Amino acid sequence: MNLIDLRSDTVTRPTPAMREAMVAAEVGDDVYGEDPTVNALQQRIADDLGMEAALFVPTGTQSNLLALMAHCERGDEYLVGADAHTYKFEGGGAAVLGSIQPQPIPHDADGTLPLDKLAAAIKPIDPHFARTRVLALENTWHGRVLPLEYLRAAHAFARERGLGIHLDGARLFNAAVASNVPARDIAQYFDSVSVCLSKGLGAPVGSLLVGSTVLIDKARRWRKVAGGGWRQAGMLAAAGQYALDHHVARLADDHQRAAYLAGRLREIARIDLLGQYTNMVFIDVPADRLRELDVHLRAAGIRISIGYLPTLRLVTHLDIDDAGIARVVDAFSAFFARG
Ligand SMILES: Cc1ncc(COP(=O)(O)O)c(C=O)c1O
Repeated sequence: MNLIDLRSDTVTRPTPAMREAMVAAEVGDDVYGEDPTVNALQQRIADDLGMEAALFVPTGTQSNLLALMAHCERGDEYLVGADAHTYKFEGGGAAVLGSIQPQPIPHDADGTLPLDKLAAAIKPIDPHFARTRVLALENTWHGRVLPLEYLRAAHAFARERGLGIHLDGARLFNAAVASNVPARDIAQYFDSVSVCLSKGLGAPVGSLLVGSTVLIDKARRWRKVAGGGWRQAGMLAAAGQYALDHHVARLADDHQRAAYLAGRLREIARIDLLGQYTNMVFIDVPADRLRELDVHLRAAGIRISIGYLPTLRLVTHLDIDDAGIARVVDAFSAFFARG
């Protein structure tokens, strides 16, 4: 019985064709800028997003950190969502390693950060205060696609106030596919964009930071300082190239499967469907049943992530097909049918 892992879209394994591309990759020393596959990947994403340059890095966390360090100096501040990955789930890296103070702003339910709250949080130019330098957004945020009109307004807001604007686009392509627009239509509103290859796109490792040549040069320096200068990374870049060639359009399948799953779970009494956005389904199940549900699903070869809250996030991805979704529906139905 193959495992169905609903915890995250980071759990996918490289397909046989992706592995072949990795083995065949031409490589060189990337610290010398001599890995042809890395260089081609960086050029390709920069072109795709309509930016000047890009930098291939191991993780989304490092990509966001390097972006913030490239935008800011010691003692600067970034405006960020209180529930944004960059702020909440990256170990406080910008503060710890970059001496950059976060200013968290509560999200609206759709994931946007209200512009009036952002405006109120900008500090006066005065030695008492950190210098507010950059606004960081996340798209998709918990699966939600930020509206293009909001991005346009946020960009204008940042420009008017002399702020840089960064996007944690770990799932940028999910947002683009769901909105039926090229990813560059989203990227155009940002000075820097971080894109993960190792989430819905199915590569084993890797993220790309994209921006101006000046910003990427700074980020490259910080990558080296952070110990992220890697050598024959072309084998990983080849997986990224493969993912961009073959796994972008198919994200629509993940979104459809999530929508189908949400519809079926809604029919099950005792499950409260909280929402479905792109490849994520959020449900509430009675808190006292969570452990039992986890044990039941494990026995059916299904993994979920149960945290401290009764809210469950179920994520569809490359390694879950229609038959897998049917198994998930059956397992949930059987559990709640027995009372
Ligand atoms: C929205 C978002 N940003 C950034 C990251 C960080 O990526 P990584 O795990 O590669 O550091 C994640 C990881 O799940 C994420 O969901």
